[in-house]
This record gives sequence, C-alpha cells and structure tokens, in this order.
Amino acid sequence: MKSMQSIVTKCLETTTSKMYGQPNIAVIGGGVVGITVAKLFQDQLKNAKVTVLAEQFTEDTTSHIAAGIFKPGTSFKGPTKEITKKWVNDSWHYWQDMLKTPDAEQIGIMPLGTYIFSKENYHVTRNYLIEDLMPIYRPVTDEELKLAPVGTKFGSYFLTLKAECGRYLPWMEKIIVQRGGELVKRKVENFASLSNYDLVFNCAGLGAKYLCDDHDLVPIRGQVIKVKAPWVKSSFYGDTDTYIIPGLNGVVTLGGCRGYASYNLNNCKYDAASIMERCSEFIPSLKDAEVIAHKVGLRPHRSPVRVEAELIDGVKVVHCYGHGGDGVATAPGTAIDAVEKGLNFLRSNTRNKL
Ligand SMILES: Cc1cc2nc3c(=O)[nH]c(=O)nc-3n(C[C@H](O)[C@H](O)[C@H](O)COP(=O)(O)OP(=O)(O)OC[C@H]3O[C@@H](n4cnc5c(N)ncnc54)[C@H](O)[C@@H]3O)c2cc1C
Ligand SMILES: *[C@@H]1O[C@H](CO)[C@@H](O)[C@H](O)[C@H]1NC(C)=O
Repeated sequence: MKSMQSIVTKCLETTTSKMYGQPNIAVIGGGVVGITVAKLFQDQLKNAKVTVLAEQFTEDTTSHIAAGIFKPGTSFKGPTKEITKKWVNDSWHYWQDMLKTPDAEQIGIMPLGTYIFSKENYHVTRNYLIEDLMPIYRPVTDEELKLAPVGTKFGSYFLTLKAECGRYLPWMEKIIVQRGGELVKRKVENFASLSNYDLVFNCAGLGAKYLCDDHDLVPIRGQVIKVKAPWVKSSFYGDTDTYIIPGLNGVVTLGGCRGYASYNLNNCKYDAASIMERCSEFIPSLKDAEVIAHKVGLRPHRSPVRVEAELIDGVKVVHCYGHGGDGVATAPGTAIDAVEKGLNFLRSNTRNKL
C-alpha cells in the first residue's frame, strides 16, 4: 500500500515538475512578435525555459525595417471587432507604459505628433481603432492645412508614439537572456521537429506561410528611404501611401508603397524616385537630405491576424502571426493574448485542438 502511494506521488511529481517545474518553451521568430511573446511569457511563468529559434535576428528581420509608428490601419483585424479593439488597446497601454519609464529612449520609444492629410478622401483622416484611445485626435485647423501640399482638403492630427526595433529588440533580448532564456539561430522545418518542447509559439511572420501551409498569408511589399533630417519633428501622411516619419538620431523614414503578393526584396529605383517626389511635396528640404539607406520589406499580411492554439503532430502550438503593416504597433496586444492561450494550453491535458 505504501509503495503504491509513493508510485502515485512519484507520478504526480513527474507530471507537476514537467508542467510547472521547468516547462520547455520554444518561440519561433526573432522579430517584434516573437521577442515580445518570449519576454511576456517569462513574465508570466518565471521558471520556464524559453528558447527563441529564428533564422534571422534583429537587423535582418522585417521588424527592423519598420519605422514602428503606432497607427494601426482601419483594416487591421482580429477574429472579432471586440478582440481587435482589445489587442489595440492592450498594445497602446503597453507602449505608453514604456514611454513613461526613464529607459524609454534607450528602448527606442518616443512620442510623435502625426498629421494625416488628404486631397481626396475625408474618411482616411479618421481611424475608429485609435480615435477614442488617444488623448489627442482632432481635425486640423485651417492654419495646419497649409502644412500640406496645395489642394489638400482634409486632415487630422493626433499624438501617438513610435517604437524602433533597432533598440527595442536588443533591449528585450538582453532581458530574455539574463533570465536564462536562449536565442538560437536555426531554421525550423516543421513542428514535429520540436516535439521535445512542452509548448511552441509560432511567431514566424511570413515564414508561417510554409510552416503552416497557410495560403491566407500574403506578402505586401514595402520600400522606404531612411534619410538624415533632424529638422523634421512630426509625422505626415498623404495620399498614395505617402509618409514621413521622424525617429531617433534625426533619422527620418520616407515611404512608401504596397505591392500585394510581391516577393521582390530588391530596391526599386522607380519606387524610390516616386517616394522622394511625393514626400518632398510636403517638405521640399527632404530632397537635399543625406540618404542613409534604401530598405525593402515584406509585410506578413493576413486577415484576420492569427492568434490560435492548435495541436500539430502532438506538439502544442500557439500561432501569433500575420500582422501585416501593423506588427510593431500591435505585437504587444496579440502577444498578451497568445501568452494567455499558451498558459492554458500548457496546463491542459488536452490532446485535441483547442
Ligand atoms: C516598409 C515597412 C514599414 C513598416 N512600418 C511599420 C510601422 O511603422 N508600424 C508598424 O506597426 N508596422 C510597420 N511595418 C510592419 C511590421 O514591420 C511587421 O508587421 C512586423 O515586423 C511583423 O513582425 P513579425 O515578428 O511577425 O515578423 P518578422 O519581423 O518578419 O520576424 C519573423 C521572424 O521569424 C523568423 N522565421 C521565419 N520562418 C522561420 C522558420 N521556418 N524557422 C525559424 N525562424 C523563422 C524570421 O527569421 C524572423 O526572425 C512595416 C513593414 C514594412 C515592410
Ligand atoms: C485598455 O487596457 C488597459 C490596460 O491594459 C485596461 O486597464 C483598460 O481597462 C482597457 N480598456 C478597455 C476599454 O478595454
């Protein structure tokens, strides 16, 4: 009887230690989504061993190309309107909280006054996702309309922020590693190869297309010019995907374009010329600014963005990908959701799809 008892206890101990002792967690992806998920998971489960597996880190990710402005597009979408709003709200508060810390600049976060102007369409100046969230979101004055090219009829101004992944990612990575996490450069071919992990987060961005055979995930090609123009202090958006977004160290991001289903990662000189012409319509002095770099990236677009738990080949997987042109802004809200789903999945004994 006694030995029976000890066997039962032993079994329970094994289960418990596997579940709560030191769960082995993998995060696929070293972009803004994967790195945010990894750190937030550690926040929630301090004794977890978290390993980030990524083909590329920091400078080589799509996240690093983004200006990182918080301005989710009105077509940004979760499974329901409520969830979409929750993701956006949670994200906004995550970034706002960081902005209020003494480390904000070191983390790459700065406040940013932003104008949206249009010659043609009043509706592009409105954004139901952020209007009620931001302390300032208002129509522009007649004086402010003069900041835009002649013929501009509509405009809004709002106070947002931006997060530069060039600083945010290394800062987060350092915390992950200090807590015993690991960053491993490795391409994951399939989920079955990760059966030694108790839970896997799939934050592979466009890479999820192949990992999940997901045909809803489509690249939207973007190109930007990074110039040195420290005199630019606010962001400007105009028609035809035109934007000017100042950042830290006087570096300004000029954009842009959207090439649906384009995989072309080469710089296109015609796009660059068009971007420069459209941006200098707003601020003529940009024509003379020193060009630091031309950058091209593929936005991982999926509608809705996928935050879902799924059992694949016996491996517990939580997906978090498909953030399109809004991944820096919305990574935190979706990561909070993914981490919560992950914790539930880890603690459940289910071998079925959740
Ligand atoms: C020009 C441009 C401007 C942008 N501006 C903004 C902006 O101002 N604000 C904003 O919010 N968003 C912006 N975005 C969008 C933003 O960049 C993306 O939404 C975001 O970077 C997506 O993050 P992610 O972590 O999902 O993907 P990524 O940064 O692409 O990271 C994916 C990670 O997964 C890894 N990976 C993929 N497949 C595998 C595999 N099989 N095995 C191992 N690792 C794998 C990759 O190596 C990488 O580490 C912009 C995008 C572009 C192109
Ligand atoms: C927005 O998020 C914050 C912090 O995450 C929370 O306190 C607040 O209740 C949320 N508001 C709404 C409307 O969901």
